[in-house]
Amino acid sequence: MSEVLREKIKQKKAKIGIIGLGYVGLPLAIEFARKGFQVHGVDLDANKIKLIQQKKNYIKDVVNKDFLHAINNKYFTASSSYDKIGDQEIIFICVPTPVTDNKTPDISFIMNSAGEVFKRMKRHTLVVLKSTTFPGTTEDYVQPLFDSKGWKAGKDYYLSFSPERVDPGNKIYNTGNTPIVVGGVTRKCLELSVMILQEVATKVHAVSTPRVAEMEKLLENIFRSVNIALVNELARLCDRMGNINIWEVVEAASTKPFGFMPFYPGPGIGGHCIQIDPYYLDWAAKQYDFHTNFVELAAESNEEMPFYVKDMVMRDLANLPVKATDANVLILGTTFKRDVEDARNSPAIKIIELLYKEGITNINFHDPYMRTIRLMDKIFRVQELNEKLLKDADVTVIVTDHTTYDYEWIVAFSKRLIDTRNATKKIKNNRDKISLLGGVPHKVS
Ligand SMILES: NC(=O)c1ccc[n+]([C@@H]2O[C@H](COP(=O)([O-])OP(=O)(O)OC[C@H]3O[C@@H](n4cnc5c(N)ncnc54)[C@H](O)[C@@H]3O)[C@@H](O)[C@H]2O)c1
Repeated sequence: MSEVLREKIKQKKAKIGIIGLGYVGLPLAIEFARKGFQVHGVDLDANKIKLIQQKKNYIKDVVNKDFLHAINNKYFTASSSYDKIGDQEIIFICVPTPVTDNKTPDISFIMNSAGEVFKRMKRHTLVVLKSTTFPGTTEDYVQPLFDSKGWKAGKDYYLSFSPERVDPGNKIYNTGNTPIVVGGVTRKCLELSVMILQEVATKVHAVSTPRVAEMEKLLENIFRSVNIALVNELARLCDRMGNINIWEVVEAASTKPFGFMPFYPGPGIGGHCIQIDPYYLDWAAKQYDFHTNFVELAAESNEEMPFYVKDMVMRDLANLPVKATDANVLILGTTFKRDVEDARNSPAIKIIELLYKEGITNINFHDPYMRTIRLMDKIFRVQELNEKLLKDADVTVIVTDHTTYDYEWIVAFSKRLIDTRNATKKIKNNRDKISLLGGVPHKVS
């Protein structure tokens, strides 16, 4: 009965299950635990479960004090087995949604975890899918599976879709202070979902169906993909023109207080969202004989950027007295984004691969968050960042602009530097060493 679950939510007695304890699942689990709910997490990655059992927090954005409080006070338990999932009354699914090699959606992680839930869930369980996916996943894939029990959504069980908005590394917005969108399969599904989500968010925005919520998430991410592609195109144009700095252009445009939002060029998009989500929409659209050409073009254009940076390196090497294949290249910053430890689909790794395929085998890297990069048949190990490493490199490339780097020092000891992030904007000396993605180096007065 939905009234019983409603009452349990009110009294914080509803038992919460979180499936997938990664960048989305772990912060959500700790937030519910922080609010006084009993949370049980499941992840097939035995290493993550081991870390939790050893009280080792592996997600930088999760406040360590909250993590330890949740574990020490038994608000949060975790296991690599689904055995206890049947005891949970509200289950959030936070598993990966990658694309296949052919860039089609791979919802097998959702279906596998939903299948495990299906085998064990009791009547009146609420299941909330959080993984980003194409419109129709909740109602056309997960719901029929649950219905095959002979149960009815909204009566025997409850189902909704609520996209995740966590932005790793964001110092202002986190799980607790970012509004949440949710769409339920039925009105009861929605009401219960809103109730539980209000426990961890200041604002919950209800939409009419899960499809709307699924599409809304894709719009958010594709909005970013398209705008980044636009500014990347202008960056390449500024490079061609040779006398305009795109970063200065964006800064100037940003002074308009309405109708403009700044997006910045870069070496490519990484992570598990913006790079992948356009392909989810594109695939879904094709089922309706509709081609999202504009969206696809943006995704393709962003995918070109690591190739463009590779070409910048080859151009710089061509001007040096050393043969390109004998050159020593240093890559600084290899996670996909500043100050985060996530390296999924990182453009830096793609750039290393492309350079390696050009015959440049002497590639070193440094990143404060990474120890090794496994690529093809090779393992690249992180190097200690010191004067010698910089001096030995024929070209150093800033791919990810971590705030811990001392850019003045890096410029001072590098022979040649390619800056793909405008990280050297404020450096006054040695500017002739720098090749900036997006035009001439910023003039520093
Ligand atoms: N990372 C982000 O910033 C972010 C932001 C918004 C939305 N999302 C979306 O959220 C979803 C999860 O992303 P993430 O970054 O947390 O991924 P992640 O890889 O960090 O975490 C997913 C976890 O699920 C586990 N897992 C996989 N299959 C499982 C199964 N069958 N049962 C139990 N555990 C399983 C994996 O071991 C992994 O630990 C994706 O759809 C992603 O697009 C991510």
